[in-house]
Amino acid sequence: MAMGAGSKQPRSLAIRWYPARHGSFTLIVWCLAALVMLLILHLFISRKVEQIVRGIDEVEEEAFPVKLARSWRNPRVARRKGEHRTLPVVDEFLVESSAVHHAFFPEGEVTMDPVNGGNDRRYLYYPGRVWLDTDGKPIQAHGGGVLYDEKSETYFWYGENKDGKTYKAHDKGPDRVDIVGVSCYSSKDLWSWTNQGVVLQGEEKNLFHDLHKSNVLERPKVIYNNRTGKYVMWMHTDDANYTKSSIGVASSDSPTGPFTYLYSKRPHNCESRDMTIFKDDDGKAYLIYSSKGNSELHIARLTDEYLDVTDDMRRILVARYREAPALFKSGGTYYMITSGCTGWAPNTAKAHAATSIMGPWETLGNPFVGGNEIYRSTTFFSQGTFVLPVAGLPGLFIFMADRWKPSDLRDSRYVWLPLTVGGLPDEAADYSFMFPLWSRVSIYWHKVWRLPEKSYRVT
Ligand code: DGJ
Repeated sequence: MAMGAGSKQPRSLAIRWYPARHGSFTLIVWCLAALVMLLILHLFISRKVEQIVRGIDEVEEEAFPVKLARSWRNPRVARRKGEHRTLPVVDEFLVESSAVHHAFFPEGEVTMDPVNGGNDRRYLYYPGRVWLDTDGKPIQAHGGGVLYDEKSETYFWYGENKDGKTYKAHDKGPDRVDIVGVSCYSSKDLWSWTNQGVVLQGEEKNLFHDLHKSNVLERPKVIYNNRTGKYVMWMHTDDANYTKSSIGVASSDSPTGPFTYLYSKRPHNCESRDMTIFKDDDGKAYLIYSSKGNSELHIARLTDEYLDVTDDMRRILVARYREAPALFKSGGTYYMITSGCTGWAPNTAKAHAATSIMGPWETLGNPFVGGNEIYRSTTFFSQGTFVLPVAGLPGLFIFMADRWKPSDLRDSRYVWLPLTVGGLPDEAADYSFMFPLWSRVSIYWHKVWRLPEKSYRVT
């Protein structure tokens, strides 16, 4: 009896158990199938992203994307003939209706867009595409630079707001936009930028003010003074014909302004056009500016408050005609990227190096890698403005450049590319006796790229 009852129980139990086991088995199979599907999907998406995002120091060769109407002439040949003109390919690039122009000012659905950038597109840099801020509006920060503010652990990008009509002040004048002011954008990840507004305003009424809208305000840069607790902005101030050629200084208690405009002057009584400032590890800061008809650069130490230049000035890269200086430091050595002098038209950039910031400065040659000969000769159709060290990754920098659009300057684009320091330079330094004193500066062309994850994961 007991046996019978006992023998029944497991059977009935077994009967109740089997459907449950069968159900779980089916569930497990479905779960596994779903997991495999998810895995395949994940692999597919990440491979797709990987396919477009190459390693930052991988050389990405690329054929020139369109057929040229005129023959392309190597700039070295042009230089040997003693010409300081733009290349035919650049002339074509500047014609709004040309295929070259369209290729380098892409319009369209995919932009650097932090609002609508899906997860697989986050942190991707597309040099030359319209870059939207977190309000979905094109970023207006041309000829700019980035300050990392340790107090707020935030990056601030300052630049020229060119959101106005492009016109010529007179027949022979350069293309220009009236001064709006200096814009500021903030970011934690160097990719999505929030508009903090115009932190230094142009002047509407007072015709005699340096920043009257009819004048020129270019290449603003900001550094922080630890002693005074002030954020100090330096900029190129000029008249519409670029004859005043002065520097302007402003300061603020906050990185997001408002900045108070202080004064302008010709440093050391010299012309000063394209410029930048650089704050060294020891807290000393420097002004570097193009002078003497842009034929040479001058470098000078700033006073301790960063509000003026000292008399300690050196002339560097004399008779080299360099503009758009962007200075940075790597492994105790100073480096600088400069452009040639061809107005808004792109030309060939050069890297320079020095063991002492005051010089002598040596030329290392063209830093560009990848793309094609035309890209490398035209700074990828852009002009440098700043070199930004990537936090936590020594030897890795972002080369920030402007792809100017002289027919509509407000639609000028940003070209941000990875820059590394390492390996042998292309040209032996003048005083090196064939021993390379410097490392090679390399700026890598990429259609699309992103920083190593470590650097943009700011918590
Ligand atoms: C080249 C400079 O680098 C720019 O900042 C601007 O001044 C243009 N010239 C104006 O033609």
